[in-house]
Amino acid sequence: MSANERPVILTGDRTTGPLHLGHYAGSLKNRVALQHTHEQFLLLADMQALTDNADDPAKVSRNVLEVAFDYLAVGIDPALTTICVQSALPALAELTMLYMNFVTVARLERNPTIKTEIQLRGFGRDVPAGFLCYPVAQAADITAFKATLVPVGDDQAPLIEQTNEIVRRLNRQIGHALLPEAEAIIPTVGRLPGIDGKAKMSKSQGRAIFLSASPDQIREAVRQMYTDPTHIRAADPGTVEGNVVFTYLDAFAEAPDMVDDLKARYRQGGVGDSVVKRDLDAVLQALLAPIRERRARYAADPGYVMDLLRQGTFRARERTQATLEEVRSALGLFSL
Ligand code: TRP
Repeated sequence: MSANERPVILTGDRTTGPLHLGHYAGSLKNRVALQHTHEQFLLLADMQALTDNADDPAKVSRNVLEVAFDYLAVGIDPALTTICVQSALPALAELTMLYMNFVTVARLERNPTIKTEIQLRGFGRDVPAGFLCYPVAQAADITAFKATLVPVGDDQAPLIEQTNEIVRRLNRQIGHALLPEAEAIIPTVGRLPGIDGKAKMSKSQGRAIFLSASPDQIREAVRQMYTDPTHIRAADPGTVEGNVVFTYLDAFAEAPDMVDDLKARYRQGGVGDSVVKRDLDAVLQALLAPIRERRARYAADPGYVMDLLRQGTFRARERTQATLEEVRSALGLFSL
């Protein structure tokens, strides 16, 4: 299959902070594999990050490079994947504006992802208009590249559904299938909990293990990790379900047989938390050491990474501009 016949992938991350193990299990790992068989674009979503960080644009801007370092550190290859900056792609903003007319406020308020996030952030009716409408912008992101596959965490599935509704509505208006529908690629491992066992591995609340974590930070995070509070002595039978150490072992250990064996012995009694934590520490140290080293090398040469972002964004600009022109002309917008 030649490069330009490959199915197109578009996905991205808000640039609000460096990425962590939750991102790795949730989608980075998939992206590293898919870049060999697909034409892949990764979007550093700084415009979307602003929709709930308007009080700190400097943070959003600073983290564009941080997330780029993370991409490269986990093995995203700039020769295979195009990395681009959302705010430098004006076609996305223009498509968002057009798509806004093909979706209702009521539908956006019913979007499960948006609904949960509005509750979580306590916005109520004072939700920023940009935030309420970010699913429309995400539809613009996906369709501007004519992507048919979107690797994301499970929380993003309603956004892909929303995208496809906009696509169908627009195609109906135009009278032919100009834009393709997209499919989410969601990892089979469930969402990774924070080290305290609560919610998801959020960046802000001290529950995350960053891809850049030092050996000591990894060790300390594993030491603090929530296990089974009723498993007091090593001899006591322990519970594996909801035990974060086992959830992480399931997500990251190379040898599932080893984990199954450990689970059986833990359930029976006779295996202390310190033993399973030592195993997990070894797994995470081995996983993150090469990532940390590669990340440090890229971070030491930001000029090189900036050049990659310029080249990637330039390629993405041509692609997105072409789609915008097609949509404008298919809708019959006035042309000077
Ligand atoms: N919503 C994604 C996140 O919160 C980021 C994102 C922006 C995205 N545009 C996208 C994901 C397009 C997939 C496709 O991290």
